[in-house]
Amino acid sequence: MAEVVRFGVSLDRELLERFDNLIKEKNYSNRSEAIRDLIREEFVKREWIEGDDVAGAIVLIYDHHRKDLLNKITDIQHNYQNVIISTQHIHLDHDNCLEIIAVRGNPKEVKKLADILKAIKGVKHGALSMSSTGKEII
Ligand code: NI
Repeated sequence: MAEVVRFGVSLDRELLERFDNLIKEKNYSNRSEAIRDLIREEFVKREWIEGDDVAGAIVLIYDHHRKDLLNKITDIQHNYQNVIISTQHIHLDHDNCLEIIAVRGNPKEVKKLADILKAIKGVKHGALSMSSTGKEII
């Protein structure tokens, strides 16, 4: 385990109270863990801006009855095999499908894939969850 260092932070009282309320709502057991997560969040954001290997998931909601939609989504995924780890398709109800595409690779390519999929006519909602391979964060 890496060496743990303690440090003091000077903070406006009101801001600290708001922070304490926020982390309580978010179920953190203490300030240290909340601050660690905020720091990690910043490093993950940075990985997506200037890194070359990120991980995450693209989530799509669409109506599979729409003509050619399924083919389009599949065709595009075949063109981006280099960043797609796996795809899970869930039939939500009679009409709606949920597709979860696990991605890993160059952030620009992953974002491009997410943008292309989201922009397809008939995709009701699309979201990219930008996470990390975990190598750059402790
Ligand atoms: Ni389906």
